[in-house]
Amino acid sequence: MKRVGLLTSGGDAPGMNACIRSVVRVGLARGLEIVGIRRGYVGLLANDFLGMGPRDVSNIIQRGGTILKTGRSEEFRTADGVCQAARILTDRRCDGLILIGGDGTFHGGVELGRIWPGQIIGLPGTIDNDLSGTDFTIGFDTATNTALEAIDKIRDTAESHDRIFVVEVMGRHAGYLAHDVGLAAGAEEIVVPERPHSIEGICARIRAGRERGKASSIIVVAEGRETGGAARVAQELRIHSGFEIRVVILGYIQRGGSPTARDRLLATRLGAHAVQVFLEGVTGVMVGEIGGRLVTTPLAQTWETRKPLDVMGNELQPMLAT
Ligand code: F6P
Repeated sequence: MKRVGLLTSGGDAPGMNACIRSVVRVGLARGLEIVGIRRGYVGLLANDFLGMGPRDVSNIIQRGGTILKTGRSEEFRTADGVCQAARILTDRRCDGLILIGGDGTFHGGVELGRIWPGQIIGLPGTIDNDLSGTDFTIGFDTATNTALEAIDKIRDTAESHDRIFVVEVMGRHAGYLAHDVGLAAGAEEIVVPERPHSIEGICARIRAGRERGKASSIIVVAEGRETGGAARVAQELRIHSGFEIRVVILGYIQRGGSPTARDRLLATRLGAHAVQVFLEGVTGVMVGEIGGRLVTTPLAQTWETRKPLDVMGNELQPMLAT
């Protein structure tokens, strides 16, 4: 019987548990032995393994977070750390390793694959949606909805007070979350790293909106040094316009909560496909879904190729915000 290790690594994302459940149950049904590894590469280096049966994944499809826990391992970034991980996987007689995470997790997988002969399969689990090779990552839909719910509430108070709110959402160095949340929330402005923005332009559009009777505005900003985050955008707007501005940083609430149906389904389909791909003998790929089709992409390509932001949204947003 082939033995496959399973871990979640990097920032947690809603739907990781649904994905664990799918890998475990489908893997067992297809004759594999699945062993969980706690706290990502941290747990791998600490030899923290646990056998997983179908009952170990009962009642988790609806839960946020990850029952395997997650971590960011500094040690695994070193050559010694990777060698140690390879030794442990060999000692544990693992034939494969399934990784649920983002680009940092997959970087680790590529390094490990250089010296460890087992099969390595990635599953895209991150709220950032910043991986090529899949239209959506597991967790993105839930995070979008969580941020949206918060912004709908902010809009109520913004409207009552005729205020301008700058709302920061996560995404690390990518604007996918900000872009989709902004469009869905009907934001007046969306500031993302992929598009240059002009503070003067934003001020002018807000002034013009006020003249047309638009009393409140929501500006959604992607976190990170590229945009400067909500604090810098708000400060620059104050300096250029004198507007009274409130800042909200949504932060880690975007990573928690029960996954949406869409995330549960994506996690379930991709988890099952990872098992299938393993059984076919494939290695060094991430499984994803593009245009409704299950696909595989070499791990390095998932971060080397940049997925474009929704171009139609780019064009529509200024018209929708008038
Ligand atoms: O990658 C997911 C993410 O939530 C990013 O959006 C964010 O920049 C980062 O993780 C935060 O990382 P940490 O959990 O290490 O603070």
